[in-house]
Amino acid sequence: LSNTERRIVENSIRDIKDFPKPGIVFKDITTLLNDREAFGVTMNHLYQKYKEYNLDYIAGIDARGFIFAATLAQMLGIGFVPIRKKGKLPYTTISEKYSLEYGVDEIEVHIDAFSNIPNARVLLMDDLIATGGTANAAARLINQAGASCVEACFIIALDFLDGQKELKKSTEVYSLVEV
Ligand code: PRP
Ligand code: ADE
Repeated sequence: LSNTERRIVENSIRDIKDFPKPGIVFKDITTLLNDREAFGVTMNHLYQKYKEYNLDYIAGIDARGFIFAATLAQMLGIGFVPIRKKGKLPYTTISEKYSLEYGVDEIEVHIDAFSNIPNARVLLMDDLIATGGTANAAARLINQAGASCVEACFIIALDFLDGQKELKKSTEVYSLVEV
């Protein structure tokens, strides 16, 4: 990102104090998405970066990760795979538990999600990494489903939480904006 582009993206993200709990500063990306310039800069940057990666799929994390992952998958001409909160996927799943900045949760992926392409190269995407609990669980799911998580990509990294550290042991990590 150029300095101008970085400013456009950073300025489009809204801070909401004490949501969903006291003490949390919530990074609101709806104001990035409804800003055509900021959303455009974000997606074009990611397209330019990942078009050389020879990816087979983009896996997006429920719910905000879906938006960026599906958009980028379409731009790259590859498939999108949803990694969902427990109980939402209709077919046979594999699942992983994890803890996050404000609770405990479980995510799942369809057991055959990546099976059309052997040893598929997968980019994991989410809007934000905080403790890294969600992304670590998602990366494990991708590998358990027989694919390879080649990189994890986030629009925002909350650096004070050290979430990227654990994830970097198992995959490459890229974040557009670090706060
Ligand atoms: C948020 C965010 C990431 C996760 C990051 O999702 O979109 O998925 O938390 O936290 P972590 O790094 O500490 O695991 P959330 O669970 O709030 O769900 P939502 O997208 O459905 O709002
Ligand atoms: N997920 C976990 N922590 C978050 C935060 N501070 N803002 C937005 N999403 C989050």
